[in-house]
Parts: sequence; C-alpha cells; structure tokens
Amino acid sequence: MDLSISRLGPAKINSPLRLSTERGDRVCNFVPDDERILYDVSLRSCRACHSDPAVEPLSLERAGPREHIYFDPNKLRVGIVTCGGLCPGINDVIRSLVMELHYHYGVHHIFGFKYGYAGLVPEAGYDVIDMTPSLVKNIHHDGGTILGSSRGHQEEDTMVDTLERMGLGILFAIGGDGTLRGAQKIHEEISVRGLKTAVIGVPKTIDNDIALVEKTFGFETAFSIAIDSIRGAHVEAEGAPNGVGLVKLMGRHSGYIAATAAVAEPDVNCVLIPEVPFSLDGDKGLIHWLRKRLESRGHAVIVVAEGAGQNLLEADKNDCDASGNVRLEDIGLFLKAKIGAELKAAGVKYSLKYIDPSYIIRSAPANPNDSLFCATLAQNAVHAGLSGRTGMLVGLWNNVFVHVPITEAVAERKLVDSEGELWRWVLESTGQPASWK
Ligand code: F6P
Repeated sequence: MDLSISRLGPAKINSPLRLSTERGDRVCNFVPDDERILYDVSLRSCRACHSDPAVEPLSLERAGPREHIYFDPNKLRVGIVTCGGLCPGINDVIRSLVMELHYHYGVHHIFGFKYGYAGLVPEAGYDVIDMTPSLVKNIHHDGGTILGSSRGHQEEDTMVDTLERMGLGILFAIGGDGTLRGAQKIHEEISVRGLKTAVIGVPKTIDNDIALVEKTFGFETAFSIAIDSIRGAHVEAEGAPNGVGLVKLMGRHSGYIAATAAVAEPDVNCVLIPEVPFSLDGDKGLIHWLRKRLESRGHAVIVVAEGAGQNLLEADKNDCDASGNVRLEDIGLFLKAKIGAELKAAGVKYSLKYIDPSYIIRSAPANPNDSLFCATLAQNAVHAGLSGRTGMLVGLWNNVFVHVPITEAVAERKLVDSEGELWRWVLESTGQPASWK
C-alpha cells in the first residue's frame, strides 16, 4: 500500500490561522507535517517493526491545520460538488466547508456545482451557486444537499476544462466510491495538464463501505434511524400469534447498516447481509430456522440488507443505474412472498409485517454525533486543501483524522468481515446460525 499524499508544491505562505507550534502556551497547535498515525496499532505489528529497525511501520499522515499553506487565500477560488445517493450530513459538510474557508482562511470565492459532476459539464446547463455564509448558515437542519446530486460518469476532460476556465484552486468532492473514482480521474487529468488544482474528497455513504475509512459520515445516523423500524417490527411481531417482522435496510454490497442496527437494537433474531450467503430451503435454510423460531418463541424479527441473497433472485446483469451498479432485485419483497407462501403451505397461521424505511433513512438530517463528525471532517478537508495536498480524502483511522490517497480508498470495497468482530456481535446478539450451509 502506498499511503503517501501528493502535493501541488511547497507550502510557503504563513497560515492565517492564529495557532501555535509550542505546547504549553495554551494556544491550539498546528499539526506538524511529519506527524503520522500507525496503520496497525496491534502489539504484534509494533514488535515486527522493532525486530527490524529498517522497516518503517505503515502509517497515514495526520490531518489538521498546517503552519504553512500552499494557496494564497485572497486569490483562491474553490468549488464544491456533491454526488451519488443522498446521505445524512451532506449539508453539514457543505456548511462547515464554507464557514471554515470564509471565516478562518478568508477565502471568499466559493462556488457550488449543481447536481453532482453533471454540474461541471456546460451542456447540462446548470448554474453555479455562490456559496456564502448567509446561504449555508441554516442548511444543516435539513437532510439532502442544497446543491442537489446525481449519479453517473462525466468526461474528466470536460470537467477539468470547467475547473481551468473558472480558475479553481481546490475542488471538494463529497461522495462515495463512484464519486471518489471520478475525483481520482479529475486529479489525474489535472496532473497531466500540469495545473495547480487540488482535489479533496469527503467520504460520504450510509453504506460505510469505503476502504481505509473507519466510518463514513451518514452511516451512524442511518443505523440509528433504522432502529425505529426494527422496534416497530418487533412490537408488531410480538403483538400477533406467529408474528414476523421483516425490515429491509440499504446496503448494496456491505451490510454495515443492518449488522450494526441489529446489535444496537437487539430485538432482531436474524440478520441477512450480502457478505454472508444464506439458503432458504432445507434443514439449514432460513425457512426451517423461522419455523423453529416461531414454534419456540411465537414471533421473529428479520433484518435484511438490500444486497443480501441476490443469488436467490434473477437480476438482469445488464440493467445498471447511472453509476454502473447492477439494479438489485428486491430481496425484501421476495422474502415477504416466500416466507408467506411457505408458512401458508405448512398450515401455519401467521402475521407478517414488512417495513422498508430505506429512503426515509437516507434523506434524514444528521444526528448530533454525525453532525459533529461532518463538521470536523470538513474543517480537516479545508486544512488539507489549503496546504496544497491533492488526490486525497479525509478520513478517520484509529479514531484520528488522517489523509488517505484516493487510489487506496477505492482500490477495494470495505465489507463486513464474516470472521470479524462485528459479525460475531451479530451472531451473539441474535442467536442465529453461524452458517446456513
Ligand atoms: O448511496 C448508497 C446507497 O444508499 C445504497 O445503499 C443503495 O443501494 C443505493 O444508494 C440506492 O441509491 P439510488 O436509489 O439512488 O439508486
């Protein structure tokens, strides 16, 4: 893994932030350029490095304000774009970017592109928005994004033409893996042209599936809101003989929302996620498990992530959304029908209540902890951009804000480890079978 961060050039300008470089003077400090955070904090990894002093442990650059910056804030022009599916906290990030740039660095030319990368393409015809403190001051109360969003590829050539024409020094790209891949392409095109424009990503997705990022913003709000649906499903299930509550949550490839919500709200008896295949029929299958559960306990709550069990369905691999994702078949509706048919055929009197809160969750405003996270992510993104770093995103690693090269963050998707701690918590909390084979 190459965790080095590219820079546009040497940082020669004194930061306008009134911070200190000394401990003990009761003034907050700049972060030294050489401060790094260990990638692996295990003792075993430390020992391995100790045993060979020539081996430098893998580490990430610590985020935060630098004493010297690359851009002259007075002359700097900045762009912000939000792409992909909605996610709680986007407006918090936009607000914090604008406030930090305007009030702390004195950057007064901040532009918002409408509807994702399409906003950087002249043919789309979208106006560019002047991002001022008065425009953004109250936006964090609302879900969604004031800039609008969209999925889909745009030609990096055309987008970089726009950045060049507008004389932008930094582009902040708020989005998930598709957005970050786009940001990387933009960064590469900028490098080919030898331009001095930084590209800084802010990782957003309720799915929490970005590699080298401990948590994406919006994820915590998403699983917290999911809990209301799980609670509802449980009350309904307990309120009827052989009651079954079935909740479908988002999570195309990664089942973090479903797994985490189920541990946080332990009324769940079974969690199905894309990373752990399950079978429906036979002694080890879901239907057999459900019948046993109803016989012994009289009710059951099942949480299914939208990407789970796709092998049981017949999705058209050629039917893709604008981001190139294969459109999933609805596993929730499929399970509802299958469970209903099987219980009916077995002569079991049952009551099944199906809840799909997906878009209610995704469009909600951030909860306080996510708002805090969004605000600080954005502040660190601004520090990184002003310092001339580029081709990177700001993330949390070992609970510290760090700089992550976009190439590494998009190299693979973060998945729930079926042999790891989170999934073990799920198994211990639900009591469901460890394997459906
Ligand atoms: O942004 C990620 C996500 O929420 C996925 O969980 C989900 O599969 C996808 O977005 C759905 O988005 P859309 O409705 O925009 O296709």
